[in-house]
Amino acid sequence: MRLIDWLDERLEIRKLIKVTLIDYKVPKNINFLWSFGMLLVLMFAILFISGLFLLMYYKPDSNLAFDSVNKTIMMDVSFGWLFRHVHAVGASIVFLLLYIHIARGIFYGSYKPPREVVWITGYILFVLFSATAFTGYLLPWGQMSYWAAQTITTLFEKIPFIGPDLVIWIRGDYAVADATLTRFFALHVVFLPVLIMIVMAIHLYSVRVVGSNNEDGKPIDKKKEGVPFWPVFMSKEFFVMTVFLLFFFFLVFYKFDFAMDRVNFEPANPLQTPTHIYPEWYFLAYYEVLRGFFFSQNLGLIAFALSMVLILFLPWLDKSPIVSGKNRPLFQIAFWIFILDFLVLTVLGKLPPTGLYAWIGLIASLIFFGFFISLPIIAKIEKKQLEGEKK
Ligand code: HEM
Repeated sequence: MRLIDWLDERLEIRKLIKVTLIDYKVPKNINFLWSFGMLLVLMFAILFISGLFLLMYYKPDSNLAFDSVNKTIMMDVSFGWLFRHVHAVGASIVFLLLYIHIARGIFYGSYKPPREVVWITGYILFVLFSATAFTGYLLPWGQMSYWAAQTITTLFEKIPFIGPDLVIWIRGDYAVADATLTRFFALHVVFLPVLIMIVMAIHLYSVRVVGSNNEDGKPIDKKKEGVPFWPVFMSKEFFVMTVFLLFFFFLVFYKFDFAMDRVNFEPANPLQTPTHIYPEWYFLAYYEVLRGFFFSQNLGLIAFALSMVLILFLPWLDKSPIVSGKNRPLFQIAFWIFILDFLVLTVLGKLPPTGLYAWIGLIASLIFFGFFISLPIIAKIEKKQLEGEKK
């Protein structure tokens, strides 16, 4: 008896495949941007497996961590350097994939009813990935690891009433120290990955229930306009994955230094602050919003917190009945200004916040919020236009 028949008799494998993969129809009118969800699943698997191998040699102790990474893993363990490069480049590229995945969702209105739960679980995944990247960055215990953690945890101090106590609670000490390293280690290797897997399963399930959106944003007739997820859609997906992996391993072998800050090859020194402290490229835009309101630290902090959460509220900010951005000229203008603005903020985030840069930072931060303010207005204009057309 073949293994598949044996399993089928006991677990109804064929029925499961039919219901979940073959009967699941994906619209024909989608483009390669709809592959980024599966690329994210692939990237998470790569990060998980490479992380597992790093875990075999890493030492979560402030006296040993730096050498366990920079000496043991990078020099002594066979192919240790490869696993470290895969993990570091992967952690950076996963954010590129996330941003493209989110931008696709915004442009085609994939956050609108009935996909709000897909959007909310996606947003939770973004927060969890950010937390995983932040906690992971401390683990090599280099200068930038230490000072990035010190700077970001200090931000919590400004929260009214509980701030100062909360910072000590997060750090486990008065400053970032061994206790911080061990708790960040626990979060990074167990708690956050497990949570990510659970939320990822809910995210995928919620897409399966409501079905994928498409370029036109209109619900499809599944019999005529849908193709089976397996094997039709997945065969294209494998092609995209192959091209992506070529690009990914090119970065891993030849351009890995973009994902590894030079300053972080010096061991953490609590007594010496580096000249410039900045986060990895994927957090630079938010960091610039924080610095953008240079005349008031408190305003900067509020703006920073808002910039991280506003995206969650898109389904309620944009109530236009037109779903896809393809059919919304006004929205398209706002969308492309927003994307350009995000890039400008990212570039500015690494430059010193002085003189002209400070002013451009302020304007770019205001434009960032302008996008969210413009959405209800655009929706209102579009609703009026539609009503006018009906009359
Ligand atoms: C690790 C993180 C993530 C994984 C593994 C993931 C995975 C997926 C997959 C496999 C799909 C179906 C295929 C596709 O449409 O691309 C999907 C769809 C979707 N995801 Fe994600 N996603 C993640 C993060 C996010 C984030 C951060 C958001 C938004 C804040 C988001 C919002 C959506 C939306 C709205 C859809 C439906 C798209 C449509 O039907 O047009 N996802 N996701």
